[in-house]
Amino acid sequence: MNKDLSGIVLTEEQICEKVAKAAKWLDEKFAGTTPLCISVLKGSVFFFCDLVRAMKTPVQIDFMTVSSYGRSSVSSGMPKIVMDLAASVEGRDVILVEDIVDSGHTLVRMRDLITGRGAKSFTTVALFDKPSRRVVPVKADYSCFEIEDEFIVGYGLDYAQQYRNLPYIGILKREIYEK
Ligand code: PRP
Repeated sequence: MNKDLSGIVLTEEQICEKVAKAAKWLDEKFAGTTPLCISVLKGSVFFFCDLVRAMKTPVQIDFMTVSSYGRSSVSSGMPKIVMDLAASVEGRDVILVEDIVDSGHTLVRMRDLITGRGAKSFTTVALFDKPSRRVVPVKADYSCFEIEDEFIVGYGLDYAQQYRNLPYIGILKREIYEK
């Protein structure tokens, strides 16, 4: 385990199981369609890649980079679109893939943007849900794992852009982000 972590939340095997279940849920919901799956970068990158490859439904993919935390552990409340989508979402069944729903600001921003651009449907899948941190009332349609208010990193999740490439998800020691 990485020395900056105090514990593991999900091992690689457990992540794999959660991904398979989420893919099955999506396959059932989107049978007979070709949804547009959107990865909210950077945090969802690994979850997204594993999830769409686990799906049997034919999908198209696109990416959007959204940032609201920077080096802070508190949301700015105004997620910034750093890179927009390449594809049009008009008339499309959109599946938005997030690593975590925390304050909810990012999800609300994405929902308003994508439905405002004329998507036919909007479905959200998140690896983690941290309901105790919610500031705006919103919920992903499917969450793989509900977690207490711990600072988690790995498998795409970062602290100050670090730890993203850990293949598992762990709890960051408080002394790392409070120093
Ligand atoms: C993180 C995470 C989500 C968002 C969730 O992204 O990846 O997109 O915050 O938080 P919220 O519910 O409080 O909005 P961040 O802005 O840190 O960028 P990153 O994905 O590049 O890490």
